Amino acid sequence: MRVLSILLILFVGCSTKVRIVAPTSTQTRAGHEATATKQMVTTQGDATTRAALHTFDQGGNIIDAFVAASFAISVERPHSTGIGGGGFLLYYSHAANKVYAFDFREIAPVMSKQNMYLTKNGDSQPLLSQEGALAVATPGLVKGLYDIHKRWGRLPWKDTIAPAIKIARKGFPLYEQLQEAIIDRQDLLKMDREARGIFYTVDGTAPVLGTLIIQENLAKTLEIIAQEGSKGFYEGGVANKIVKTISARRGLLTHKDLREYRMKERDPVTGQFKGLKIFSMPPPSSGGIHVIQILKMLEPYKLKKFGPQSTQAVHLTAMSMQRAFVDRATYLGDPDFNTVPVKSLLDEKYLATLSKSLSSDKVAKATELKPIPLPYESSDTTHFTLADEEGNLVASTQTINGWFGSGVMAQGTGIILNNEMDDFAQKVGVQNLFGAVGGNNNLVAPRKRPLSSMSPTIITKNNEPYMALGSPSGTRIITCVAQTILNSVEFEMPLYEAVSATRIHQQWQPDTLKIESPFLTERVEKDLAEKGHNIVHESLGCSIQAIKRENGLWIGVSDIRGEGHALGR
Ligand code: GLY
Repeated sequence: MRVLSILLILFVGCSTKVRIVAPTSTQTRAGHEATATKQMVTTQGDATTRAALHTFDQGGNIIDAFVAASFAISVERPHSTGIGGGGFLLYYSHAANKVYAFDFREIAPVMSKQNMYLTKNGDSQPLLSQEGALAVATPGLVKGLYDIHKRWGRLPWKDTIAPAIKIARKGFPLYEQLQEAIIDRQDLLKMDREARGIFYTVDGTAPVLGTLIIQENLAKTLEIIAQEGSKGFYEGGVANKIVKTISARRGLLTHKDLREYRMKERDPVTGQFKGLKIFSMPPPSSGGIHVIQILKMLEPYKLKKFGPQSTQAVHLTAMSMQRAFVDRATYLGDPDFNTVPVKSLLDEKYLATLSKSLSSDKVAKATELKPIPLPYESSDTTHFTLADEEGNLVASTQTINGWFGSGVMAQGTGIILNNEMDDFAQKVGVQNLFGAVGGNNNLVAPRKRPLSSMSPTIITKNNEPYMALGSPSGTRIITCVAQTILNSVEFEMPLYEAVSATRIHQQWQPDTLKIESPFLTERVEKDLAEKGHNIVHESLGCSIQAIKRENGLWIGVSDIRGEGHALGR
């Protein structure tokens, strides 16, 4: 992950010194923050932001813009997301005063087995679920986009794909993080002739920044999907090429898996925080539950009195994260396969008990923390956020999991297939790519959805749109989203500062408190170490894309830590 080098300390609205990530020489605040009266778009890519705005300009509604942004970002961030992956959508319809949640997450192929990644001795083999054909789960993105567009889209389907086809065919200039991903995954990607031709020079090195990345085969695949709808992906020539590539490399995905993939509509998880109503993604994401848990555990402590980035505020926040991740490892998984005790995990009395457990002056060692019995029933990924003049909001997080997913490109299609199988637990207690451990509920099973941390989140105030946000970066998504809400709502920071301020991350296991650059003050970090925190300085990889309603305007912020772009009309 890139380490930001030039740092700045600013005073912000809440009259407390807060460390803010400042623009590097290639990044300026311009482009990352915008104000608008009608539509607002914040995405992780300049071409994608423009594609979504263009769709609005063509007379499209927020769902058309969502589909256009999804296809465009698939092309512009091929290391993070793509039509070979999946995702989630949270959609707030102002007219219906309702938040809808859609799950187009990948699912395990029918031939998957619980012990498929273990040796005969029962040892885990992490690389098998991270690289190559066995890591690939059945993609859900195209089916999700198609079905959602069929229900609400206004423009013809093909018009929403047109901008992505153009970006794929004409190319976009290579940017820093994509170059870093190309170098990071070269051992895997260069073995694939087609991928090598797209992402490397003839000498096999990464292209220089600014080189046009052209994906002609992907443009052709998108044209087929534009003409034939989701069948153009799940059946016919494209499906044949996907299955042929997978079976040649001893993977499990078959035509049956593709043909039978279904998107699911789910009920969002909800919680009240300081008079606001928070809606977020339910299981198979763990994200929504834990964002709400963290906020609710912290609410009684009134962190504002300590100040942001003070020892006490960081200590309590880290402990609330640690507590939430114990629950993640214990209870979370695909609700279609195991009972996930959503109600209990968000139960007010339960959260009050967890909250009281934070009052200790010392952080607990990971081994000391055990789940508390429940009361009743039992860099990677992308995010974009949209708003329109009718007061509708979209928050969508999409992924192929690790950089360049499985590293497998379906030959002749330009599609990079995900490695979402790594989001399952190979066995109970074994860490995945993000160091997260899973429990019984997240073991592999045929047609099961792997546990996610993606947390597209929408907040309303008195039944009016208030904020929408989300981020990439695996398990860090949960803590980055929660901290942005805390910064904005509890510490009353302006949105840009709320997104930019230094973030921390604690996920129970590994037993560390990660602090990103610019680090906290020496004094605060020393005090935290005395309270038992094992501090590690590390970039967290989040890139928050947020929109807030203020005085009748949309404020959009695309995290300064990335190449994103906020733009409105
Ligand atoms: N693949 C990252 C996530 O779903 O959380």
